Amino acid sequence: MAVYERHVFVCTSGEWCPAIDGDGLGVHAALKAAIKARGLGARIRINHAGCFSQCGNGPMAVVYPEDIWYAALTPQDAEEIVERHLVGGEPVTRLRYEPAEPGAHKLERDDGGRPIGRVAPWPASRLNPEGESNAHPSPR
Ligand code: FES
Repeated sequence: MAVYERHVFVCTSGEWCPAIDGDGLGVHAALKAAIKARGLGARIRINHAGCFSQCGNGPMAVVYPEDIWYAALTPQDAEEIVERHLVGGEPVTRLRYEPAEPGAHKLERDDGGRPIGRVAPWPASRLNPEGESNAHPSPR
């Protein structure tokens, strides 16, 4: 028997995800709160993690055992991930991160610190400047 049905790791101690490319610490807190509110702490675990070497694409999270990755997350995405994916079993397509090649995908930065080639709003925000939802194709 698995110790947890699903285990979510959120990059909260890398250089970029926690507070520069978005609010990774807030994403972690929101996921944890959503799991606690549903009384699912014995089934689904939310953990802090260090850098995943996907810097510039975050805030990043990964869900096991499915190995489903999410990028450019915001705290406002937590409820949808919990309800649809962690409880319902269906990954949230608009937030998925699916690089073409395995391994590290760190983006270079321009002089302003913006990750070069990033498609998602930067820093990650629920609404882009046009007021549309933060759907983001991946990878860069
Ligand atoms: S800082 Fe989050 S993936 Fe590197």
